[in-house]
Amino acid sequence: MWLFLGIIFSVGTLIPGKLSLKLQYDGDQVLHIVPETFQQVQHLQHLCSTLLLDLWKPLQPEDIWAGEDLHIRVPAPLVQEVKDSLAQHMISYRVLIPDVHKLVDQSMPRERSNHRQVSESYVYTQYHPMEEIYQWMSQIQKNNSELVTQHYLGKTTENRTMYYLQISQPSDKTKKIIWMDCGIHAREWISPAFCQWFVKEILQNYKSDPKINRFLQNLDLYILPVLNIDGYIYSWEKDRFWRKNRAPYMNGTCYGTDLNRNFNSSWGSVGVSYNCDSEIFCGSGPESEPETRAVAQFIKRKKNDILCYLTIHSYGQYILTPYGSTTKPPSNSEELMHVAEKAAAALMEKYGTSYKVGPTSLILYNNSGSSRDWAHMIGIPFSYTFELRDNGTYGFVLPPEQIQPTCEETMLAVTTIIDYVGQKYFPGGAVMLTSSSLGLSLCLTVAFKWTVS
Ligand SMILES: *[C@@H]1O[C@H](CO)[C@@H](O)[C@H](O)[C@H]1NC(C)=O
Ligand SMILES: *[C@@H]1O[C@H](CO)[C@@H](O)[C@H](O)[C@H]1NC(C)=O
Ligand SMILES: *[C@@H]1O[C@H](CO)[C@@H](O)[C@H](O)[C@H]1NC(C)=O
Ligand SMILES: *[C@@H]1O[C@H](CO)[C@@H](O)[C@H](O)[C@H]1NC(C)=O
Ligand SMILES: *[C@@H]1O[C@H](CO)[C@@H](O)[C@H](O)[C@H]1NC(C)=O
Ligand SMILES: *[C@@H]1O[C@H](CO)[C@@H](O)[C@H](O)[C@H]1NC(C)=O
Repeated sequence: MWLFLGIIFSVGTLIPGKLSLKLQYDGDQVLHIVPETFQQVQHLQHLCSTLLLDLWKPLQPEDIWAGEDLHIRVPAPLVQEVKDSLAQHMISYRVLIPDVHKLVDQSMPRERSNHRQVSESYVYTQYHPMEEIYQWMSQIQKNNSELVTQHYLGKTTENRTMYYLQISQPSDKTKKIIWMDCGIHAREWISPAFCQWFVKEILQNYKSDPKINRFLQNLDLYILPVLNIDGYIYSWEKDRFWRKNRAPYMNGTCYGTDLNRNFNSSWGSVGVSYNCDSEIFCGSGPESEPETRAVAQFIKRKKNDILCYLTIHSYGQYILTPYGSTTKPPSNSEELMHVAEKAAAALMEKYGTSYKVGPTSLILYNNSGSSRDWAHMIGIPFSYTFELRDNGTYGFVLPPEQIQPTCEETMLAVTTIIDYVGQKYFPGGAVMLTSSSLGLSLCLTVAFKWTVS
């Protein structure tokens, strides 16, 4: 009996070991600094570059400014040295995350076995490894075959298959398309979690929610739950803070292109690096990466039908409009801003979470080669980047307890945008005929006739 329990116990403890990340973060800390003077900025830039610290916000030392937030992950062996150096230069700091490893551990689902299926009901309030997301995609299609289809989009660098889901209500009308992709950056785990949540919510509520009901009559939703699949897997298995894809460069001496610097929008001109060690390496040319090519070729083919391009990132709490690659505003910038502000207001109503809204190059940083800029430049009128929760408290290791509130509030923002776009392009074309509105309009008609006669 005891022996038996012992065996079960040791099997149980082996499983987490198998999944533990190759790189450990024991004692790593994330520091929050707001430099006050130019001298402090210079010192911080020097410190970050020479010690190769992991910048979370901004992404490169050149973008450190006085008066702006700086979030850096400092590896355990360097924590004391960095703190001493900050003290020496009278730079004040706050420890945002005292032990990165602990948070990383907590964000991995606890119970997990090699044979775990996507069980009776899929748990949307946990982060899921890629293998489970693949299973989820095929189940969601099988379970909702009247509305959902899964389609091939392309192959990744490591030859994995990219699929998107199409949510489309049967109809003989000509419809337009809303595109949304998640997970272009591997470590931003809340992003794929949101794409899955979004699909679930649409399917659960399209009959009862008037807004969803209205836009689905004229719009098809195309969802790519994980754009950077190789990177996402790498962030689960090797390095939780991996950002880029996994393409080898320089004969494998360095890896990864930032896919959101690889699109053909002023490629390589601003806010990028040509050094393949960098987090913002833009690749060897526009669309040099198979993941970028797969998305871009598809979007180009459908561009006349796509009204809105949404790309979901974390973190920072922004809704960003074009452009990042030029400060020249797009022709419809006022409308883009108006809709984004409506979306941010809807989001805030749920839990009071505050988002900043504006053109990337004005409110965040200059960057070229982003999918958002590219989509707008080829003529897709509405194009937005979402930077989800949080504002830096947990950064890339947003605890699983925040998946639900984050997704709930984001849902309100995203459906606000989609509904606006639907009503703009199909004005009055989607009168809802639920029993109550039908009843109401009958009443009004009767009342009207009665008053007239
Ligand atoms: C699909 O339906 C089966 C049977 O009802 C259910 O067990 C499963 O959780 C569903 N999968 C998803 C992803 O909704
Ligand atoms: C990619 O995968 C397909 C099967 O999915 C296989 O036929 C092909 O040989 C693979 N290519 C490479 C380069 O590994
Ligand atoms: C890669 O390796 C090949 C052969 O080993 C060599 O000729 C080439 O110069 C290397 N390229 C780089 C960028 O190091
Ligand atoms: C990028 O766009 C330019 C025009 O702006 C075009 O000439 C070029 O062929 C495009 N490159 C790719 C890889 O699509
Ligand atoms: C982007 O570049 C322009 C000049 O080209 C500059 O005025 C602007 O401040 C930059 N934006 C940010 C957020 O740094
Ligand atoms: C994030 O926002 C909360 C309030 O929502 C605030 O208390 C906290 O200081 C902010 N953190 C940072 C790093 O700005």
